[in-house]
Amino acid sequence: MKKVAIYPGSFDPVTYGHIDLIERASAIFDRLIVAIARNQAKKTLFNVAERRLLLEQATKKFSNVVIDDFKGLLVNYALKKEAKVIVRGLRAISDFEFEFQMALTNRSLAGKVETLFLMPNERYAYFSSRILKEIVALGGDAKHFVPSYVEEKLKTKLNRA
Ligand code: PNS
Repeated sequence: MKKVAIYPGSFDPVTYGHIDLIERASAIFDRLIVAIARNQAKKTLFNVAERRLLLEQATKKFSNVVIDDFKGLLVNYALKKEAKVIVRGLRAISDFEFEFQMALTNRSLAGKVETLFLMPNERYAYFSSRILKEIVALGGDAKHFVPSYVEEKLKTKLNRA
């Protein structure tokens, strides 16, 4: 039986930190579904179609990675996709509380779905999409954090092109 994992998130937009995680997880599982959450309370800069296009471009070199989006509870989506594992990145201690809460909530909703935490390369350990947007909005250089096509899209969105 093929080992399927879900890597869920907002991906607003995809960064080198996410790509690093995708590479690590795709080496462990037969199939990795990178799943954009649709129903978040969070207001996003990019719509789902835009985030999806950027993720597709960022992951085309990984043959066992597919991009999808989902509505509703993550565990229901994981069960529907027959994925036993949810992959999440853990950067710093600041991530821990939210991730701990989410992993145990998901376990109480669906005990058969495990959450697996991976650490990104330390280069990206302090970095987030939120900080990235701030850098670009203020005219900073984001080339160390995102591929050039993501930076271009960010500049256009944030009127920095
Ligand atoms: O990239 P993010 O914003 O940290 O991702 C958070 C995400 C999308 C994984 C989380 O909000 C989520 O799973 N949302 C789906 C709704 C859900 O299942 N909620 C209950 C578990 S906390």
